[in-house]
Amino acid sequence: MMAGHSTEGVTDAVGGPTRHIPVLLSEVIDALGPKDGARYIDGTFGAGGYSQAILEAADCILLAIDRDPDAVTAGARLARQYAGRLTLAKGSFGDMAELARLHSIEAADGIALDLGVSSMQLGEAERGFSFQADGPLDMRMSRAGPSAADVVNSFAERDLAQVISVLGEERRARAIAKAIVMARQKQPIERTGVLAEIVTRVLGRRHDDKKHPATRTFQALRLFVNGELDQLVQGLIASEKLLRDGGRLVVVTFHSLEDRIVKRFLASRSGRVARPSRHAPPGEERAPSFRLVYRRALVPGASEIQRNPRARSARLRAGERTAAAPFPADFSSLGVPKLKLSSVL
Ligand SMILES: C[S@@+](CC[C@H](N)C(=O)[O-])C[C@H]1O[C@@H](n2cnc3c(N)ncnc32)[C@H](O)[C@@H]1O
Repeated sequence: MMAGHSTEGVTDAVGGPTRHIPVLLSEVIDALGPKDGARYIDGTFGAGGYSQAILEAADCILLAIDRDPDAVTAGARLARQYAGRLTLAKGSFGDMAELARLHSIEAADGIALDLGVSSMQLGEAERGFSFQADGPLDMRMSRAGPSAADVVNSFAERDLAQVISVLGEERRARAIAKAIVMARQKQPIERTGVLAEIVTRVLGRRHDDKKHPATRTFQALRLFVNGELDQLVQGLIASEKLLRDGGRLVVVTFHSLEDRIVKRFLASRSGRVARPSRHAPPGEERAPSFRLVYRRALVPGASEIQRNPRARSARLRAGERTAAAPFPADFSSLGVPKLKLSSVL
């Protein structure tokens, strides 16, 4: 055992020009409680901050997954450092069950998910996630499939409005969609700076709000391009199947759409709602498949937010698996927003 869950010194396991500071790191490790000889899955390797802390906390085995090929390449050094204990896999945590099987992990003692993008992804203008640094309008974590520019330049105006309204929770989505369609008639929108400017012209620079006016629109496009909410649901369902009795699921979210899904998933699985789904027959009681580790979400303290402003919207929720069978994979009660789109990519 490597000294009582200390996370000291584990701040930028992989590093690089833009360092990712792990959010709620000691809380994640406490919630996970790594044990010698146990098997863990880090579904969002990023810069390896959680992975390294897990490997330092106990003499355990870890499968770390990331869909970003750059994150996996940069993690090779860590994989060498922990050779025989750390396996790095490129893939999506929604496919965690298959990835685990592929790497001979039948059941896990703990699973961590730290959602969203890393500071490296945000900081590298070429990845196109940032409205602050001009770059190609890309936003694809996996570097594959349709990009944000494909969506912005091809979607019907009402579909753009829907994506921005539902996934960005942006009140002025229709006006933004209209401005996008007007702008792209003159010239395709290919740069993050151009899109940020279009949104800013519609919303104006809000002095009462510390957020950039394009924050919500960029969030919406990023979530859409990467199918992030579907991934989250798939990851939660896979975790329920993979975790053994007593194993812990620890999820760190960064906005309300994600947090609501995790909260409802754990509430339904821990018996905190009478019926897991409105489609389930009344009176059908299932044995809880999770026990809540904390009644409320954990949030960072003022000092962490001061050190790392990116942490300010973080929420940690955790569940401990029981011996009961997994619930049927029913998403209807999880509050996943539904989009009715006519555009195809
Ligand atoms: C917030 S960072 C994780 C940082 C990490 N906990 C650390 O301490 O360095 C999120 C990472 O998860 C990856 N990611 C996001 N969604 C994913 C998914 N569905 N499957 C696999 N990786 C994903 C991103 O590419 C990014 O590298």
